[in-house]
Amino acid sequence: MNAPESEVLKVELLPIDDEHDIGFIACLTIDRPDKLNALNAEVMDGLKAVCAWVEAREDVRVLIVTGAPPNPPAEGKRAKPHAFVAGADITEFAGAGSEVIRVKFTDNAVEALWNLSKPTIAMVDGFALGGGCEVACSCDIRIASDRSRFGAPEINLGLIPGYGATQRLERLVGYGKAHEMIMTGDMVPADEAHRIGLVNHVVAPEDLRETVVSMAQRIGSKSSHALRVGKEVVRSALDESLTDGVTTEAAAFAGLFDSEDKEIGVQAFINRETPQWKHK
Ligand code: COA
Repeated sequence: MNAPESEVLKVELLPIDDEHDIGFIACLTIDRPDKLNALNAEVMDGLKAVCAWVEAREDVRVLIVTGAPPNPPAEGKRAKPHAFVAGADITEFAGAGSEVIRVKFTDNAVEALWNLSKPTIAMVDGFALGGGCEVACSCDIRIASDRSRFGAPEINLGLIPGYGATQRLERLVGYGKAHEMIMTGDMVPADEAHRIGLVNHVVAPEDLRETVVSMAQRIGSKSSHALRVGKEVVRSALDESLTDGVTTEAAAFAGLFDSEDKEIGVQAFINRETPQWKHK
């Protein structure tokens, strides 16, 4: 089953291990660099289709989401800046009323990304603004280059975030900082994003891809079954009380003792071998 690519979305399959056939990392690139990879309807439709494809392809174990680098500038023109995604495509907001936007923003591609059962990593190099910051917040892990800048500038358009930042950004950076970002629209540079917990790691631009792919490979080499259960349980911490969450964890942990991968992992440890996961 081939990836549903388009003019604005590219999907690259990278092996998790060069020597052993243990599956792939899908690297999804949002490819509208002349518009700083802004999320227009075509990107959003495509992103939803790619999420469904990632979920369905058993051998795809991790998803990386990134933005295309700038094209070389046309003669006499200045180079466009690096961007992960500079937000929803603002041109699609002109003249739009609530009915249109309600349809567009309900059950959207950012939710599809958030709802993936597989591990997701945002690889951010440049502006991650508005919907771009929200795409990053919908991934499980964020790794950014040191020239990246994050923000929720919707207030400058007379708006608030619409792809989940009031909830997911708040969970990452906390109540006060989320208010500051959403109320001021100010951009947060990468080092500050790291300090406030918005990104996991900040690296030099030239090290970004290797850092992200190597982490994706490490994650992809684990039991997909255990990863899926772990993701679900960590997610439950967002909605449940600590007491309920610990109960959820206990049930999930015990459940894993009936999985094939638990016995494979334990025996591999005892025998000093590399586990050959069944992913169930
Ligand atoms: N929607 C549509 N087009 C966008 C866009 C967006 N969110 N962000 C950037 N672009 C387009 C620009 O219109 C421009 O297109 P053009 O060259 O055809 O005129 C191109 O991308 C480059 O952007 P430009 O503004 O010229 O780059 P810059 O270096 O001067 O500024 C930003 C970069 C990110 C500060 C600026 O583009 C910006 O503020 N973008 C909007 C961010 C935003 O408000 N996002 C939230 C949307 S809800």
